[in-house]
Amino acid sequence: MVWLHGAIPLFGVFLMFLRITAQPTPHQYHFINQSLSWPEAQSYCRLKHADLATVDNMDDMNRLAEALGGDIKPSWIGLERRGPLRWLWSDGSGSAHFTNWKEGEPNDAKGREGCGEISEEGTWNDHVCGGGRSFVCYERRSDGMVRYVFYSGGSWTWVQGQDICRKQHTDLAHVRNGQENVVINNLAGNNKAWIGLFKDSWTWSDGSGTSFRYWLNGGPDNYFGNEKCAAVAMSLHGRWDDAPCDRRAPFVCQGGLKARKMVVRMKMSTGVDLTDSTVSATLLQKLETSLGNHRMSDFKLSWRSDKDGQIFQRQEQQGAAGRPGC
Ligand SMILES: *[C@@H]1O[C@H](CO)[C@@H](O)[C@H](O)[C@H]1NC(C)=O
Repeated sequence: MVWLHGAIPLFGVFLMFLRITAQPTPHQYHFINQSLSWPEAQSYCRLKHADLATVDNMDDMNRLAEALGGDIKPSWIGLERRGPLRWLWSDGSGSAHFTNWKEGEPNDAKGREGCGEISEEGTWNDHVCGGGRSFVCYERRSDGMVRYVFYSGGSWTWVQGQDICRKQHTDLAHVRNGQENVVINNLAGNNKAWIGLFKDSWTWSDGSGTSFRYWLNGGPDNYFGNEKCAAVAMSLHGRWDDAPCDRRAPFVCQGGLKARKMVVRMKMSTGVDLTDSTVSATLLQKLETSLGNHRMSDFKLSWRSDKDGQIFQRQEQQGAAGRPGC
């Protein structure tokens, strides 16, 4: 419920419904062939579209590659190195809610233990991503069931495991609860095995929590020591590379919001007559401006009328004349 504080003297209390219609499909990508720094590209996208591009999965990645229209130069996407290190799942599902770390782990023992493994007894440990391990993939089948596949041998890096899992199955195993942990542990038997856990501090410009990454060579290299922004390049087969944010490059914006339609019920105490169409149109415009200031774009507002064609329902006043506003 949104409370709006209206002018006095109090005229009445109105109940009304506001329809917010977002423009079409999620993650519509737009390649902008202008060379800007990452922050400038971000401002451009927020002004003209919704934000810099977020990539949720391989399907998105393929559509983004299409949007690049054959351009092979590195182009900015909405990923930047900002915020704390946290453990994430390779399949894009975000941070690890269920965890089963061995006592004292993760301890980043060698200062570069950025990948997660399941140990012989089923607890988790952080390990150097280039270390040799077996690994467990998972596969989401069309009936919604999950199947795990174990690759033995003990000589795979985490990234090699990820590549194979993404090609042959869905991704490295994502462990959502104790039951799944037992299943994976039994499958791996007496082996240490990679699961889909990795650590990074990258965040998406649009606030999305997706942990899907598609780095060249499995991870950002921070080659110049100040590479805090991510670019996609078709010359790298669509893989991502980190680069200094002030470098000028073309970029990819996304338009559209995930929510397509939203109806908001508002109650308002006001001294003006809302049934006057000029008044209601002005109010709509003000709401639109206010939402625009809150990083929303690509949307339209309209009043929704009930079956009698009424938009505003006047309510009988109960008790106190004044109501808290915000
Ligand atoms: C982008 O612009 C460059 C020239 O500045 C041009 O060579 C290239 O083909 C353009 N890319 C696309 C996809 O239009």
